Amino acid sequence: MTAESIYQKTYFITTFGCQMNAHDSEKLAGILNGMGYRPAEDEHAADLVVYNTCCIRENAENRVLGNLGYLKHIKKKHPNKLVAVGGCMPQQDGAAKRLAATGAVDILFGTFNLHRFGELLERRVVTGETVSEVWEKPNGLDDGYMNAFRENPYRSGVNIMYGCDNFCSYCVVPKVRGRERSRRPEDIIAEIETLVSGGVKDITLLGQNVNSYGQKPEPTGVDFPSLLNLVARLEPAPKRLRFMTSHPKDLSPALIRTIAENDNVCKHIHLPVQSGSSRVLELMNRKYTREGYMSLITALREAIPGIAITTDIIIGFPGETEEDFADTLRLVREARFNGAFTFLYSKRSGTKAAEMPGQVPKDIANERFQRLLDAVNPIVLERGKEQENRTLHVLAEKEEDGVFTGRADNNALVHFKCGGQESPLGKIVPVKITQAKTFFLLGEGEAAQ
Ligand code: 5AD
Ligand code: SF4
Repeated sequence: MTAESIYQKTYFITTFGCQMNAHDSEKLAGILNGMGYRPAEDEHAADLVVYNTCCIRENAENRVLGNLGYLKHIKKKHPNKLVAVGGCMPQQDGAAKRLAATGAVDILFGTFNLHRFGELLERRVVTGETVSEVWEKPNGLDDGYMNAFRENPYRSGVNIMYGCDNFCSYCVVPKVRGRERSRRPEDIIAEIETLVSGGVKDITLLGQNVNSYGQKPEPTGVDFPSLLNLVARLEPAPKRLRFMTSHPKDLSPALIRTIAENDNVCKHIHLPVQSGSSRVLELMNRKYTREGYMSLITALREAIPGIAITTDIIIGFPGETEEDFADTLRLVREARFNGAFTFLYSKRSGTKAAEMPGQVPKDIANERFQRLLDAVNPIVLERGKEQENRTLHVLAEKEEDGVFTGRADNNALVHFKCGGQESPLGKIVPVKITQAKTFFLLGEGEAAQ
């Protein structure tokens, strides 16, 4: 055996952005493992560095460009290190040029040709030339069939659909991920059956808008509530099922019933509201009003006692007035969210909102953003305090210095200690919550179930 043949090349993947990207990175890892690469400890040690990028806001792009500047510097000392950049950013007009200008990129690919990554890498290795291949659309070749390498053995995402047809006026997703297309129910079920039999306990059905599942490009004959029901009742069934993300305009009474009726469907919904002002919601092309959203919250809370509701909010959308912002603050107080991701509006070229009048000055947006946080965080903490002295069931996913971490059924992040001989890792453990902090809960675990 020569020295070369025992030397295995290593890779390190950094993911920017959402759960969809995180799952795409697992697919890239699957391809690389299949080619005989193995994971490196970190970016410095890796022969191949992969950035799976996000472009939803300008700061996500700036982080990628900043990191690439640093990698360019590292590459001077390590000329054999390869850098691949893929995901959403290369799909944006002009972004490929900006990425190339960093001088650090050896392989460029997009969201639609993820499955071609192995070939592109090989081409780069064989020719020594920069390789760039970005498709404009999926060409009927989505990547659901790829063999993802899932680092977390207990919790997995499964794509049920790709792309988005909603065209919210601020959002680049329909452009960079293409038109909405659903996977066939039988393919989704087969993938989930494999995961469950491999010991995965907690499965998240992934789509930009899962509530419109099953309609495009052709009807699958199964809508989202039916799919969720089918999956929840498989034999053996997943211990826990989640889904992400729900668009309020398509959240149906049937879905609410399905969550209520299946014990293994987690009592949590991520329901981005974006704004509390019906006027702004119309400008955003969200297709619901503040009142419509609030009646969904009421219906969810009535049908599913204890359900956790989390949301996304954008501050400083073009034309947002002080009154519109006050409406958002009011909605936050009425809805009493269990968690909220808050974003400063970021102007994205090619979107309708980028052309709208009344772009909000940065200092005003920043000041509103701070006021929003001041309103949201105490509510989230209060919601957490409601869990104190209760027992939540937590899937223990990680351990560090004797402290275990995992998610409860209601999606709360819980850190806990656990007595007993047997490690709780990979098990769903009853944990008594002792103290709530704003972004996590602390507790004491009982014996693993
Ligand atoms: N600026 C700020 N936030 C945005 N989001 C999407 N596009 C933008 C933008 N241009 C937010 C939305 C969405 C979340 C994933 O990102 O709140 O729900
Ligand atoms: Fe973007 Fe709206 Fe689609 Fe979500 S629903 S991905 S915010 S266009």
